Amino acid sequence: MKKKILSGILSVVLAASMLVGCGGAAAPASSSGSGSGSGKVGVAMPTKDLQRWNQDGANMEQQLKAAGYEVDLQYASNDIATQVSQIENMISSGAKVLVIASIDGDSLGTVLAQAKEQGIKVIAYDRLIMNSDAVSYYATFDNYMVGTKQGEYIKEQLDLDNAAGPFNLEIFTGDPGDNNARFFYGGAIDVLKPYIDSGKLVVKSGQVDFDNVATANWSTENAQSRMDAIISANYADGTKLDAVLCSNDSTALGVTNSLTANYTGEWPIITGQDCDVANVKNMIAGKQSMSIFKDTRTLAAKTVEMVDAIMKGTEAPVNDTKTYDNGTGVIPSYLCEPVFADVNNYKELLIDSGYYTEDQLK
Ligand code: BGC
Repeated sequence: MKKKILSGILSVVLAASMLVGCGGAAAPASSSGSGSGSGKVGVAMPTKDLQRWNQDGANMEQQLKAAGYEVDLQYASNDIATQVSQIENMISSGAKVLVIASIDGDSLGTVLAQAKEQGIKVIAYDRLIMNSDAVSYYATFDNYMVGTKQGEYIKEQLDLDNAAGPFNLEIFTGDPGDNNARFFYGGAIDVLKPYIDSGKLVVKSGQVDFDNVATANWSTENAQSRMDAIISANYADGTKLDAVLCSNDSTALGVTNSLTANYTGEWPIITGQDCDVANVKNMIAGKQSMSIFKDTRTLAAKTVEMVDAIMKGTEAPVNDTKTYDNGTGVIPSYLCEPVFADVNNYKELLIDSGYYTEDQLK
């Protein structure tokens, strides 16, 4: 069932990415491989469990093929050793460029040293690969801005500058091995910290620091069980929870599941990111307040431009050469812009743009 839904989503995404303009895609709108590129590109994705990576992989494959490249697309079931061996295979089977969305940003140093030795270029996709000088470029969304938008949403909805408060807040961010998680958390906490410090926002669980609010593997189940514990210790007596900052949709889903099962008070503000189908449905049903929309078609298009430039020896598109130091120096990056989504604009953003059909959100 899950598979069926996913393959339905993917065919729509594929069709859409062929029809819709993709922020300056290098790839022609055809999947016949009529582009002028040639050679093999390895695309390593972390997991099929989360909807977005299926879309990322499908978009990358379609757009690379359309640009003329051969594609080796692999998913690693969130298992680091599997990802390393997939990358080894890509190297030994002649890939010229590797596009990698890492599971753990710190675990690819050894395998990427092999890539570098053989002159294979590496693009970090969405997540920065840390402590490796084999990384040439980074294509992502502005991760700090994602967090800022989530934090500002809570600030505005609770009217923190004017309302008396205090308001109760809980915080859920992502996997500690994902460099993005620190940017999401950092962007949001920079907005909210002054109010926590002044006492207008109260985190009753006392869990505020990154290490205490991280969610291993970004897992819905982990977020859900942490929320279960937080509710039973702090909100079971009817104490109102006003807002939950969730860095993404998989954690938001866990929080929402837990609240549905355990919480009897007025429904809190809940943030998210990715506009996954289940979460957009929750937005429509009033169970999640907002999500950040990161159009994976645009990211794929930018990454394909980077691949094309590397292959042809021309200049790759970058718009940030300051922010993302991976421990070996700043990696030239292209940051796509994340967009705010809620129940008022999701139709325009997600349906009119061809990202989803109306039926998928029913
Ligand atoms: C991505 C998010 C995603 C999360 C969990 C992050 O690196 O940027 O879009 O929700 O990983 O897969």
